[in-house]
Amino acid sequence: MDTFQALVLEKTEDEADLNIKQLHMEDLPEGDLTIRVAYSSVNFKDGMVAINHQLVESFPLIPGIDLAGTVIDSQDDRFEAGDEIIVTSYQLGTGHSGGFSEVARVPADWAVPLPEGLSLKEAMILGTAGFTAGLSVKRLEDNGLEPDKGPVLVAGATGGVGSLAVNMLAKRGYDVTASTGKSSEMDYLKRLGAKDVIDRGEVEDTEHKPVRRKMWAGAVDPVGGMTLQYILSTLKYDGSVATSGLTGGTEVATSVLPFISRGINWLGIDSVKCPMEKRLKVWERLTADFKPDMHEELVNEISLEELPDVLKDILDSKVRGRTIVKLS
Ligand SMILES: NC(=O)c1ccc[n+]([C@@H]2O[C@H](COP(=O)([O-])OP(=O)(O)OC[C@H]3O[C@@H](n4cnc5c(N)ncnc54)[C@H](OP(=O)(O)O)[C@@H]3O)[C@@H](O)[C@H]2O)c1
Repeated sequence: MDTFQALVLEKTEDEADLNIKQLHMEDLPEGDLTIRVAYSSVNFKDGMVAINHQLVESFPLIPGIDLAGTVIDSQDDRFEAGDEIIVTSYQLGTGHSGGFSEVARVPADWAVPLPEGLSLKEAMILGTAGFTAGLSVKRLEDNGLEPDKGPVLVAGATGGVGSLAVNMLAKRGYDVTASTGKSSEMDYLKRLGAKDVIDRGEVEDTEHKPVRRKMWAGAVDPVGGMTLQYILSTLKYDGSVATSGLTGGTEVATSVLPFISRGINWLGIDSVKCPMEKRLKVWERLTADFKPDMHEELVNEISLEELPDVLKDILDSKVRGRTIVKLS
């Protein structure tokens, strides 16, 4: 394969251009593994990179923070041609050309062997969003969350992290309440397993009250901002929230009160620099007991040509569930 197609973000005089281009192997960055990419996926961060040009460390860049595919050349003893691998996180799609490409080249240290029992397509239905949802559930359970402790809130529930967290928790026996800004998606969230679906406005702390009626044994929060303020004020005694995102804002006003009177736990979730040993364990769990039902309606499969529009849509909260990009 001498040439291949990729979505390329290039810097022109004072702006950046996003175009599908025909590239040559020598256009790829350095790395031990050259991969024929089967699927990538679309995450909120990809919109930040490709459309808003945030987090971009160098141009030109092929965005795409996730990829799954087959090794076609390996300069590292741990992998050989024909191996199926997953690559997410690190600098993929921000500082190193990523998954929106038919071919990619990455350091071997970033590669996760595809776990037995997971297909390349399923790996990208999960992708960074699924990894983050899985890491969130694991952290909550490591901190004592169990189904009989009470209801669990998932905020931003129709998004990638949210949809997968709803489904994973429901399958594990939790009583899940999903909050969403999309009233039209209540039935979708119930089909994923939510017992109750509530409006996003009900879980925003507009009054700056650090302590309210105790509601949740745990929460998965990819939203942040006033939603996280609300969650911190409503966790039950010893309850935990796993914070992963910022779609609702980065500033959080709280006080020590819920921490020192209810012993609550505010757990930070980082998928990017998660150490490989822990990363492999999360992928194992995602393949076994955390594996979501791959509901057809959870997944939208698109081509490279359709990708630029979806990258805009995800920033405008117009995307539901997971979007995967078929590359070969
Ligand atoms: N820490 C990590 O390692 C890590 C990993 C993955 C993702 N993230 C972050 O997690 C967040 C979600 O990522 P994603 O890929 O799941 O994104 P996504 O698919 O776009 O989902 C985000 C969801 O957030 C909700 N939302 C959007 N704008 C909002 C607003 N202004 N106020 C309140 N809620 C809003 C929407 O859900 P509803 O319409 O249902 O309310 C939306 O679907 C992003 O901030 C992303 O950067 C972090």
